[in-house]
Amino acid sequence: DEDGYELWLRYALIEDTVLRTQYENALQAITFNVTSPTQQAAMDELMRGMTGLLTGRPIATSSVIHDGTLLVGTPQSEPAIAALELHDALETLGDEGYALLSQSIAGKRCTIITANSDIGLLYGSFALLRHLQTHRSLHNLHVLSAPQMRLRMLNHWDNLDGTIERGYAGFSLWDWHKLPHYIDPRYCDYARAMASIGLNAASLTNVNANALVLTKAYIAKAAALADAFRPYGIRIYLTARFSAPLEIGHLDTADPLDPNVAHWWQQTAAMIYEAIPDFGGFVVKANSEGQPGPHDYGCTHADGANMLADALAPYGGTVIWRAFVYDADVTEDRHKQANNQLVPLDGAFRDNVLLQVKNGAIDFQPREPFHPLFGRMPQTPLVLEVQLTQEYLGFATHLAYLAPLFKETLDADTYCQGPGSTVAKIVSGELDGHPHSGIAAVSNIGNDRNWCGHPFAAANWYGFGRLAWDPALTSDGIAEEWIRMTFSNELQIVDEILAMMLPSREAVVNYMTPLGLHHIMARDHHYGPGPWVDMGRADWTALYYHQADADGIGFDRTSSGSNAISQYFPSYAAMVSSVETCPETLLLWFHHVSWDHVMASGRSLWEELCFAYDEGVGMVRQMQARWTALEGLIDSARYEHIKALLRIQLDEACWWRDACLLYFQSISGRPFPAQIEQPG
Ligand code: GCU
Repeated sequence: DEDGYELWLRYALIEDTVLRTQYENALQAITFNVTSPTQQAAMDELMRGMTGLLTGRPIATSSVIHDGTLLVGTPQSEPAIAALELHDALETLGDEGYALLSQSIAGKRCTIITANSDIGLLYGSFALLRHLQTHRSLHNLHVLSAPQMRLRMLNHWDNLDGTIERGYAGFSLWDWHKLPHYIDPRYCDYARAMASIGLNAASLTNVNANALVLTKAYIAKAAALADAFRPYGIRIYLTARFSAPLEIGHLDTADPLDPNVAHWWQQTAAMIYEAIPDFGGFVVKANSEGQPGPHDYGCTHADGANMLADALAPYGGTVIWRAFVYDADVTEDRHKQANNQLVPLDGAFRDNVLLQVKNGAIDFQPREPFHPLFGRMPQTPLVLEVQLTQEYLGFATHLAYLAPLFKETLDADTYCQGPGSTVAKIVSGELDGHPHSGIAAVSNIGNDRNWCGHPFAAANWYGFGRLAWDPALTSDGIAEEWIRMTFSNELQIVDEILAMMLPSREAVVNYMTPLGLHHIMARDHHYGPGPWVDMGRADWTALYYHQADADGIGFDRTSSGSNAISQYFPSYAAMVSSVETCPETLLLWFHHVSWDHVMASGRSLWEELCFAYDEGVGMVRQMQARWTALEGLIDSARYEHIKALLRIQLDEACWWRDACLLYFQSISGRPFPAQIEQPG
């Protein structure tokens, strides 16, 4: 597989014969009494994986336990496992976790995959294969693992016509035209990839929703996808257009307090659940960027969300209401609008409403401080939303490994209940004791042969899944796994690629938006630089975000400016509100700073900005050099593809640096430091 189709699920023969012999001895045959479609999926995956990685011949199955048996089952499905009385281990696993254990059974050396549920067995099977793919030891195996978040979801922004909003990897995977009757085998491979990293939910459609998906004909198509995904533990969600009662319901209003409207949604829910009994629920973007919503009827977000929640409640469905709400009201900093609108509604939402909050308050920038809603709505379960598709980070053309960005948000301390009140603990439900918890990512998947466009973009899908399962994993550890599974276990290759990936997001920050700059991308499509963009509407205007003038640059969000800082808890607010203690990575996010302000390095702000842009270009050069050093060690298809993409990335990093510095120089009037490559 040199085209990337198999993602990280490449099961190529392990060439290290010593290691392979160890594995082959430990895993000579499978004992697995398959009793359900999910168990069958686990069996198929183990067969496929072990056959590829080990002998190249199908692995034997046996109902008798020998030395070297891989025993798979729950206590319910497998008497030999029930007999082991693993209560203590199983108790820690919940209904999705798994255990991998080395265990002697009647004197025979066995490896066990067990769980309380069938889906736990599937996750455990993928974990065992990952173990082999990354060349870890099977000796004294004792892995107990359970997910920290209940909802681990991808949000596809796919339109019914096959296009994808902000999608850079081709068209939608969902072939609405041929559904429900034609089930593309790729749906199964998608579900395998999702389950292999523990993702358990997919919202199929664009948040800028088309009401048609809620008609009976489309629900039948969605039901066929749900059927294909079900064995892999994936529940589907759909985006609900708030004005659907007008558009497809023949009503003359979508007022959430109108009984006819509520009734229409109840009937729609009943129709959906008849077709999809485990339907997850609705994802809703309302009163944001021109989308319809409850404000159109003088109602609140809670009125709107609760009406939908009541329709879903009889079936156990949830409403995922998005907190990405802002008006074109330039008298109020866009940074503040979600808190202004939503914090007063804390406690007003039904139990089956989750509020989905982007990692930052503006919009998926290369770097943002965490969203000030985290910690401010303790009575409402909050879902963290991140973006895999690189809308603001060079599309599927630039290499940017985003686990460090996700970690930055997850690990951010809100101080809402004192030190250690991290975003991860809020969205896992731990801090406020919520039964619901979750994390969602805007998908970067399309029908490109390699799924995500850039071969390295698959690492972001992978990394997101791994962090959704366990936010305590490290970016390095996740990257290393992915490299070993995707490319090779050769140390030189692992080390070089790791050294490319880990700083790659910081490289993008440097050549696009260093020191807290944001939203200075070109208009509409957001590709390439546009700090000069003036769109007429202030909050979509780069000038509004960077505020550069003869004196300095940056958005004043302190009490002398928009005071967005006041929405954070005091410990964090105090830190970022002083120019002295604000991290320099966020300086221009929170402050308007003189061009001559002296930075920690001893340089002026202007010089520091120049150095940062130049450093970004230098970092891409380093990535290129590392990649070129791997020539001959990586298959030529992927080698050449990535080499070409890095070439584009370097050109465009220079484009960003030159455009931004020449533009900002026209305002700062200061010379470029002699040490940097002179823009031009
Ligand atoms: C961004 C993006 C839009 C998207 C929106 C959202 O603004 O540019 O295309 O619809 O986010 O998250 O709703």
